[in-house]
This record gives sequence, C-alpha cells and structure tokens, in this order.
Amino acid sequence: MGRRDEAGLDEHTACQTGSTREHLIEIYRKKAKHYDITSRLYPVPGYPQRTQRLRAVQALGLRTGDTVIDMACGTGLNFPLLQKAVGPGGRIVGVDLTDAMLARAQDRIKANGWSNVSLVQADAAGFDFPAEVDAILSTYALTQVPECAEVIARGAAALSAGGRWAVLDLKVPGSTPGWLAHLGTATVRPFASIDEWIMRRPWETIRAAMQEELADLSWTEFVFGTAFLAAGSRGRSVSMETDSPSASAKVGG
Ligand SMILES: C[S@@+](CC[C@H](N)C(=O)[O-])C[C@H]1O[C@@H](n2cnc3c(N)ncnc32)[C@H](O)[C@@H]1O
Repeated sequence: MGRRDEAGLDEHTACQTGSTREHLIEIYRKKAKHYDITSRLYPVPGYPQRTQRLRAVQALGLRTGDTVIDMACGTGLNFPLLQKAVGPGGRIVGVDLTDAMLARAQDRIKANGWSNVSLVQADAAGFDFPAEVDAILSTYALTQVPECAEVIARGAAALSAGGRWAVLDLKVPGSTPGWLAHLGTATVRPFASIDEWIMRRPWETIRAAMQEELADLSWTEFVFGTAFLAAGSRGRSVSMETDSPSASAKVGG
C-alpha cells in the first residue's frame, strides 16, 4: 500500500466518472480488510470521527422500530449506533458500491448476531430507494459521488412524512485560501484528484440539494470547518451553526 492509500484521502477525492468508479472499487477492495483500523486515522490521526458519527446518528431522531438506510455504509461502522437507536424491531439497510467493504459489513452482522440488517451492493447514483423509509444516513462518502444532489433528491422523495436525511462528510474550511487548502492536503496526499475535489466543492452541492429538498436543514461544522453535518426533514427554517465560538447564526425562513 502506497503513501497515498495510507493517508486515506485518495478514494475520498476520486471523481467517479466511468473507469474511475472501477478504480475506486479497486482502492476499497484493497482497504476493506483493515478499514476498521486504518479509518481511525482518517482523515488524520486523532480526528474525532466517533463523536461525529454519534452526532450524525442523533440528528436522524430515530425511534425504536424505525427503518434506516446507511448509504455507502462501507464495513458498517455506523451499524452499532443505528442498532442502538432502532432496536431489534427496527431495520437497517446498508448500501455500498464495493463488494469487499460489504463482505466486512456482513462479518460484523454475523459477529453481532443481528437479524435486522440487510446489505445491498449498488451505486448510490442508481440506487432505487425503498418507499417510506424513516431515515437515511451517509457518512464520509457522499462527497465522493458526483451525482450527490440526485441521490439526496431521490432519498428525500422516498422518506416517510417526518423522515430525516443526515450527511456527515469532510470539507475544506470556508476561510481557507485555495493555495492553503492545496498545501494542507498535499502534505498528506500528493495526488492530482484532490484538486478536482476542492474545485468541485461537493459539500456545497450537498448543502444546496438538502436545502432544496429538506426545508428544516441544519448545517453544523466541526474541527475548524474540516467536516460538516447536514440534516433535515420537512420544515420551515434553516439553521447554520459552527463549533467555532466566533461564528454562530440562525437563518429564519
Ligand atoms: C470512506 S468510506 C466510508 C464508509 C462508511 N460510510 C463509514 O463511515 O465508515 C466510503 C465508502 O463509500 C463507498 N462508495 C463510494 N462511492 C460510492 C457510490 N457511488 N455508491 C455507493 N457507495 C459508494 C465506498 O465503497 C466506501 O465503502
């Protein structure tokens, strides 16, 4: 495994057009076996990923018996948190593009004896969301999907009344000059597609799509704006928060 893979950002910034989707699957096939350990270093060692995951699951407002989709679930790192929220009477559907990541998720399901989790190998861009789901979650994955706006729209259409969508992912801090963003990411990953990811600014696409589809969108930024949690259902106002003490705002609607 080369330095790029160790940094954990190659796949995150790879644009999925045509053959690069195959390339991304190949990357995750290689990473799958040790993903649960190496992802703890993601995007850098000490990053509060678990706290962020917890916040994302809390943002779904799940109740016992709910059905939740974990889009691009990987090895199922969110499953224990989701299980706790929906209970054995609830249902979890994990969707992912990469067979090897799903195989690890299946191992997790078996090891825990869960009978209420099903897995689907599918591209988020073409996934046919089942109707009337209570919640949809995607963590550290959706900014990799160029069709993320369509995925959000189709997911929102499949939600039951009051159902919630939550997306947790990485971003470049808003105040970061372009040259500094490149410098910062280049130190961990000297790889051309980071430029494409930064230029594409997929977190903005996700935010706009969720604002369009979910009227009560909340947007929270973590760790100096290097990650975001966007969550919403149906509602009438938009709130924006940041964990930076210097900036906090609510926008009525
Ligand atoms: C960084 S991992 C995150 C996995 C998991 N969500 C987590 O939080 O640990 C990204 C995952 O997204 C999946 N993925 C990437 N593009 C996808 C797509 N277009 N459709 C479905 N899954 C995709 C990859 O196979 C990989 O398992």
